[in-house]
Amino acid sequence: MLPIRTILVLIFLAQHVFGACPWLCLCYLKETPIKVDCSGVGFSKFPGEIDSRVQQVDLKDNKIESIRNLNTYTELEYLDLSDNKINSISSTAFKKLTKLKYLDLSNNSFTDWSQIKARSLLASTTRLTTLKLSHNSLKIFTAIEGNLFIESSSLEELHLKSCEIKSFDGNSLKNFTKLKYLDLSHNPIRWLNNLYSKTLTYLDVSHCLLDSINPYALINLPGITTLKLSGNSEFDMNIGNLTSGSLQSFEAAHCSLTSPGLAGLPNVTYANLRGNKIEKLNERAFSRNRVLVELDLSLNDIKEIHPFAFVAARQLAFVNLSSNSLKYNIPWNSFSSNINLKALDLSRNQLESVGNLSILALEYLDLSQCSIKDIKKDSLTGLPWLQHLNLSNNPLKNIPNDIQSWSLRNIDFSYCRLSVVTNETFRRFPEIGTINLTGNRFTKPFKTYMFEFNDRLESLKLGDNPWICNCSSRDFKSFWDFLKSYPVKVKSYEEKDVKCMSPDTLAGQSWISACYLEWYPVIELETSNFGIPHYGSVLIVIVIVIAGIFAVIGAIKHGIKQRIKHEEEEMQREMVEALQIQARIVHQRRQTFPLLEVEDTELRTPRPPVRARTESELTQPPTYEEAIQMMASSREDVVSSENVAGVSGQRQAHSDDDDDDDENGQSYSIGSELSDSDSDEEQIRINRKKQSHNSL
Ligand SMILES: *[C@@H]1O[C@H](CO)[C@@H](O)[C@H](O)[C@H]1NC(C)=O
Ligand SMILES: *[C@@H]1O[C@H](CO)[C@@H](O)[C@H](O)[C@H]1NC(C)=O
Ligand SMILES: *[C@@H]1O[C@H](CO)[C@@H](O)[C@H](O)[C@H]1NC(C)=O
Ligand SMILES: *[C@@H]1O[C@H](CO)[C@@H](O)[C@H](O)[C@H]1NC(C)=O
Ligand SMILES: *[C@@H]1O[C@H](CO)[C@@H](O)[C@H](O)[C@H]1NC(C)=O
Ligand SMILES: *[C@@H]1O[C@H](CO)[C@@H](O)[C@H](O)[C@H]1NC(C)=O
Ligand SMILES: *[C@@H]1O[C@H](CO)[C@@H](O)[C@H](O)[C@H]1NC(C)=O
Ligand SMILES: *[C@@H]1O[C@H](CO)[C@@H](O)[C@H](O)[C@H]1NC(C)=O
Ligand SMILES: *[C@@H]1O[C@H](CO)[C@@H](O)[C@H](O)[C@H]1NC(C)=O
Ligand SMILES: *[C@@H]1O[C@H](CO)[C@@H](O)[C@H](O)[C@H]1NC(C)=O
Repeated sequence: MLPIRTILVLIFLAQHVFGACPWLCLCYLKETPIKVDCSGVGFSKFPGEIDSRVQQVDLKDNKIESIRNLNTYTELEYLDLSDNKINSISSTAFKKLTKLKYLDLSNNSFTDWSQIKARSLLASTTRLTTLKLSHNSLKIFTAIEGNLFIESSSLEELHLKSCEIKSFDGNSLKNFTKLKYLDLSHNPIRWLNNLYSKTLTYLDVSHCLLDSINPYALINLPGITTLKLSGNSEFDMNIGNLTSGSLQSFEAAHCSLTSPGLAGLPNVTYANLRGNKIEKLNERAFSRNRVLVELDLSLNDIKEIHPFAFVAARQLAFVNLSSNSLKYNIPWNSFSSNINLKALDLSRNQLESVGNLSILALEYLDLSQCSIKDIKKDSLTGLPWLQHLNLSNNPLKNIPNDIQSWSLRNIDFSYCRLSVVTNETFRRFPEIGTINLTGNRFTKPFKTYMFEFNDRLESLKLGDNPWICNCSSRDFKSFWDFLKSYPVKVKSYEEKDVKCMSPDTLAGQSWISACYLEWYPVIELETSNFGIPHYGSVLIVIVIVIAGIFAVIGAIKHGIKQRIKHEEEEMQREMVEALQIQARIVHQRRQTFPLLEVEDTELRTPRPPVRARTESELTQPPTYEEAIQMMASSREDVVSSENVAGVSGQRQAHSDDDDDDDENGQSYSIGSELSDSDSDEEQIRINRKKQSHNSL
């Protein structure tokens, strides 16, 4: 044992030899990269005692005001000083940080470039690739004004978001010979000029004050692929279409564009023109955009689309025309040449009819929240690959009888005004999987043969309809059985949504709770003494009864266990052997006759109570059967309880439920049919299983 003093000295030495960690910080000194995390600990100056070999330092969210000298940290690669109060950096502070790659000075208190000493900072950090200066009040970014002649031949990313920059001069980019990414968003910049960079690929000038851009402003950015102009609320292109051969992603959402203005951007694949002031799509509006894939024109004021507006945009796959002012049908051939168009969103327009669009590859069509009253029987014939159709929230009253689609998977008719479904309605939708009829005007259960040809139907939503519940009606019950038969069309968790509106006595109740006693009278018999009307309460009673029985059995079992304990020691060897044999038997049975075991359990004769054994029996080693039974009684989980639960549950359900599906867990029982305590125990386990199954 070393004396405590020695230990302390050793720790002290260790800290100096193997590295120190500032109080409150997390240090990862044995890892590569060597990391020190001092974020959010309230430091007011750069902590002095950081290990000099450190490679990453996180000092985010402290109260540091100035940076003097970091020259001991020559290995530093990553330094996060964001969310501090820094307003001065010494000109020599970064002199030796030649390995620094990432420097975050966002959200500090700089009010002028001179406080950053950016020129000397960048001159010494010759490997710096990312510099973040966002959220500082820097006011300018120009090579002309002031004495800002900063340059870097390593910097690739420069973040200047929200820097109150009014004066921006693109010439200042010239001296950043590797710059790829420039974020100038949220600055009061009015004009972009002299942009000059051979390397820039990403330029974000969203949420500035740009009202127009020289059409050739991007001409000296030969590598630009992404331009973000969104949120320049006055911006439009009426002095000329912006021109760039390389631009691939163009975002100008929430500006003031009156036309798409993509004619000068032949390489654009993604264009976001959401929330502009476009009223009309002219002939050949996108004819230069041969590689355009995704086009968002939502939230404009488009009233009119020329039949040839989208001609030549052959790669177009996603078009969003949601929230416009389209009233009359879109010409049926508007998208005929867009052979790759997969998704078209026409929701929230004033369209009055589905029309007869012809779009070869369309899979997804959204026509929700329009004013559609009319759908023709050939409305979908021009859409041979349509899979998802949304007609939700339309004043649609009727679905024509001969309407057809060989591909449709999901159809949403929710919140329309439908009141009739006939045996012809869904006949020609062989692939249909989900139908949403929520919020319509249906009152009577559907005849099940109406879905005769919809083998793949797996979800039918029926909530929010004025259903008249007649529990004794055969149609009603057989419709319910249809819904609950495989594949289950109304899932257990959806049962509560399907409610009766009348008669008054049942209004507001779900079908199943209103009709349970009528449909599954077994419960009524068993609980009629209590006079409990709904199966919800029945459940509670069952739980209480089971709990009671459990307590009693628990006590009995405890007594039995005490006795068995004595036997156990003697019999251990035999029992282990018996268990092995039993397992083998069970396994074999399962493999050969999966039902045999169940039959067995059902027909099993009550076994003699343990306490009936005589003194002599107790001293004798048990027989095989005894050992097996003993094992079964002392183990909580009976091997076959799963199967037993399934089949015996089904048996106890009433025989007149012709196709009551056990999977739905609609059959409840409390086991009073079985008399002896062991069967009770069995039954309780079954019930418990069912309970937990149902409460899921
Ligand atoms: C700036 O830092 C302060 C704490 O110093 C923090 O409360 C604030 O949310 C930060 N602002 C931004 C935009 O990150
Ligand atoms: C920065 O720009 C000046 C003037 O345009 C030029 O003389 C100098 O060589 C440039 N520096 C770099 C690193 O390109
Ligand atoms: C932009 O291009 C479109 C399509 O070529 C053209 O009709 C329009 O006049 C152009 N806009 C301007 C302002 O030149
Ligand atoms: C257009 O984009 C592709 C990549 O999608 C690129 O290879 C090509 O060089 C770009 N064209 C121009 C003119 O920049
Ligand atoms: C279409 O645009 C609207 C509004 O901008 C948006 O809510 C909706 O999600 C878009 N649709 C698709 C399919 O992306
Ligand atoms: C679509 O309907 C219009 C008239 O409403 C008709 O002239 C045109 O032939 C129809 N197109 C198709 C493909 O059915
Ligand atoms: C159909 O559109 C409505 C909006 O009106 C939306 O709530 C619903 O989720 C859409 N249905 C599908 C299947 O996407
Ligand atoms: C649909 O029902 C009508 C009468 O209600 C019947 O005449 C017709 O044959 C039925 N059609 C099919 C396909 O079952
Ligand atoms: C209608 O049901 C579908 C699923 O079947 C769901 O995706 C859609 O959101 C529902 N519509 C509404 C308006 O809730
Ligand atoms: C309910 O259905 C039964 C059997 O179809 C019928 O006799 C009875 O009149 C119906 N009750 C009401 C109120 O419609």
